[in-house]
Amino acid sequence: METQNKTGQAPDVYEESEVTLAPLADRTVAILGYGNQGRAQALNLRDSGVAVVVGARPDGRGHARAVADGFAPVSLQKAAAQGDVVMVLLPDEVQGPAWRDWLAAGMKPAAALGFSHGFAIAFDQIAPPDGATCFLVAPKGQGDMLREAFAKGGGLPGMLAVTDTSPDGTWDLAAAYAKAIGCLKGGGFRTTFREECIADQFGEQAVLCGGLIELLRAAYDTLVSRGYSKDNAYFECVHEVKLIADLLHRHGLDGMRRMISPTAAYGGLTRGPRLVDDGLRDRMSTILDEIESGDFAAEFLADASSADPSGASLAAREAASDFTATGRGLRKRLDALGLDDTNPSGGTR
Ligand SMILES: NC(=O)c1ccc[n+]([C@@H]2O[C@H](COP(=O)([O-])OP(=O)(O)OC[C@H]3O[C@@H](n4cnc5c(N)ncnc54)[C@H](OP(=O)(O)O)[C@@H]3O)[C@@H](O)[C@H]2O)c1
Repeated sequence: METQNKTGQAPDVYEESEVTLAPLADRTVAILGYGNQGRAQALNLRDSGVAVVVGARPDGRGHARAVADGFAPVSLQKAAAQGDVVMVLLPDEVQGPAWRDWLAAGMKPAAALGFSHGFAIAFDQIAPPDGATCFLVAPKGQGDMLREAFAKGGGLPGMLAVTDTSPDGTWDLAAAYAKAIGCLKGGGFRTTFREECIADQFGEQAVLCGGLIELLRAAYDTLVSRGYSKDNAYFECVHEVKLIADLLHRHGLDGMRRMISPTAAYGGLTRGPRLVDDGLRDRMSTILDEIESGDFAAEFLADASSADPSGASLAAREAASDFTATGRGLRKRLDALGLDDTNPSGGTR
């Protein structure tokens, strides 16, 4: 029987106090991959009293780190065979080939399959058989943040989903898993594999890792091309992003506007909309179309498996750019001074 609220539905948001770890009792969780998420989740599960077996490549960095953390890692295949819950925490582009090559045939027949991103299920890289138990617990943050917060008694919010053909009890298992890794602290939000995957990728592309970075670069280039110093341009257009992000995170949009100077507030409110016009919204919509249609997923997988991935060469070109070098120089100087780069006044100057 699933956990239900007063209306008889599984809740839209799972609260930690309403969820028990009972679905994980007497079950071993196999963590496949000891990277960013695998390490944090394995450690948090162990601290929550859950039995964990770590699967890692024998000569890899993850294997060595798992040993240092007190685990006795086994091969990925062995771990998959031992798990009652098999958590697939390999890079997204590796999950489909792993499923086809050894995972599908190597799991216990009744084992549950878990993910921390919807990609493999949403874009048909993995198709568990009808009736198989399959869930998603996607922490809203990096593994190191999850581990650090959990170790201090906190955690991160998480997105939870189960596949349509999963049996009764799967939502309870997902909620228990989320609680055990510290993902119900801020609430566990119900979603679908597809919604989580698409919204996550859109946020990364339109804002966090794409749009935002290009906006910063364009602003830096504009100042530098008009004769302003590179250091000054970097401070104003890049370095101070953290100050505003922290204010937004802690105090919300209205709080941030109240805490910055009137000049900054007026300038932002009147000039921001001139930059983000309908043309940009149309291009964002096209980017969302590409994600929804699966075109982005196909392009990414093809690039990752090519002999000369363009993702790697684009990153190398960016690392060698003047923009990156200016930031590197400034950070070195600030690190050497041991300065905390947060601004207690919360201002932008
Ligand atoms: N990173 C995040 O912030 C984040 C946040 C939420 C969700 N997620 C999701 O969590 C999942 C795991 O991502 P991650 O960032 O934790 O991954 P990751 O750190 O890049 O790598 C995970 C592990 O996969 C192993 N691995 C890499 N390539 C492999 C291959 N070809 N065959 C076998 N093992 C291989 C690595 O082993 P070695 O140590 O041997 O190299 C590493 O330990 C993904 O679905 C991701 O979308 C990530």
